[in-house]
Amino acid sequence: MGTGSGRLTRPLLHLGARVVGVDLSHTKLRQLATRASDVDPPLVLADAADLPFPAGSFGGVISVHLLHLVPNWKRALREFRRVLNQGGVYLRRGGGLAKDSPCRRMRRQWQHLLESSGFPQQHGAYDDRPVRAALEEMPAVCSPVEVAHQTRVTTPQQEVARIAARTRSGVWSVPGPALLRLLDGLRAWAATEFGSIEREFSCQEEFVLEVWRF
Ligand SMILES: C[S@@+](CC[C@H](N)C(=O)[O-])C[C@H]1O[C@@H](n2cnc3c(N)ncnc32)[C@H](O)[C@@H]1O
Repeated sequence: MGTGSGRLTRPLLHLGARVVGVDLSHTKLRQLATRASDVDPPLVLADAADLPFPAGSFGGVISVHLLHLVPNWKRALREFRRVLNQGGVYLRRGGGLAKDSPCRRMRRQWQHLLESSGFPQQHGAYDDRPVRAALEEMPAVCSPVEVAHQTRVTTPQQEVARIAARTRSGVWSVPGPALLRLLDGLRAWAATEFGSIEREFSCQEEFVLEVWRF
């Protein structure tokens, strides 16, 4: 679900998995079709919250970096459950930055600055906790599998530059002048918090595969 141009779909296809790719963006699906033209997978233009498949169609549903973009993400979860066959699993990315890592602290402060300036929150499920809670309520049970972890050495300045590059959807709605002002605020906070915005720190991040069974 939400294949994008195939960062995960293409390796799965090349491992021999039978995959149906679903995305809301025609552009992304065209990119995926071009990149996976040797395998020619079935691709479906659809909203994850309104799937055009009969109940019980699939043995697995995978979503990574998707639900924060889906306003009706609870309905999407119900759709995932509906299209899974008996014994089917829903796989999603868990883990992330270690709880008190400097990168996480910077991200929290950034979120605080955004919210206190009145910028709207993400439309979808930005935080993992409500997603897990909603799945547990359905009810579904999770078996987490740790897949990988990494340590990233960075500086507050580099983290500010990542936000300024607007690669994350959370800043797309912030106009340029406001973004510059908020980033100044983040730099000032980081200079106090970490002593200098050029100070290096390490951030631990883990990639956990959450395997959910309904
Ligand atoms: C951040 S990209 C992640 C792509 C891929 N899952 C990955 O991890 O590399 C999110 C993708 O979800 C798609 N998307 C956003 N909202 C969607 C929705 N409601 N239904 C299906 N796809 C959606 C976007 O078009 C985009 O291709």
